[in-house]
Amino acid sequence: MNRIVILASGSGSNAENIINYFKKSPQIKVVCVLTNKRLAAVIDRCNRLKVPAFYFNKTAFLNSDMVLSFLKSQNPSLIVLAGFLWKIPKNLIVAFPNKIVNIHPALLPKYGGKGMYGNHVHETVKANKETETGITIHFVNENYDEGAVIHQASTKVSQSDTAEDIATKVHALEYEHFPKVIEKLLNNNG
Ligand code: GAR
Repeated sequence: MNRIVILASGSGSNAENIINYFKKSPQIKVVCVLTNKRLAAVIDRCNRLKVPAFYFNKTAFLNSDMVLSFLKSQNPSLIVLAGFLWKIPKNLIVAFPNKIVNIHPALLPKYGGKGMYGNHVHETVKANKETETGITIHFVNENYDEGAVIHQASTKVSQSDTAEDIATKVHALEYEHFPKVIEKLLNNNG
């Protein structure tokens, strides 16, 4: 059995999509979701979907090995960042080489780095009058949004699109591509 642990900070619509995608899989299972936001909507989604969810604070994440120990105890085949907004500390990068993947809501290297997340990205894409945007799924290293790219997909942006319209298009790409890319990574590993 391939075991996925998801880290999410907010709404968790990608987390829900991934959980549902693998719900009936005999080989791949989302074993739990971790969040750094005590009131994140992803926790409500996990309650509804009957997936265990755990909260940790900054001290546990950055100044202890507690999150590391917990992750090790889950024996994950893959750690999936689905809208997780804290930088991953070195102890986790070292412990899980090529086992942590992130989705970014833009075509990296454009619109990456600190502060570039969620709607900030889409607002900047709009302000810059881009004609296309997209998603990047990549391995995670010690720098924000700089790990090796695994997969990108793009969508057209028209000048009349609002930032919300762009977000909707990008989310649609995320829902379509992220579970399939995860599945492919796990199948290639095994
Ligand atoms: C997603 O669009 C994801 O790409 C983005 O946050 C959103 C989370 O949505 N991630 C980043 O910006 C990471 N830098 P969700 O909580 O509904 O899945």
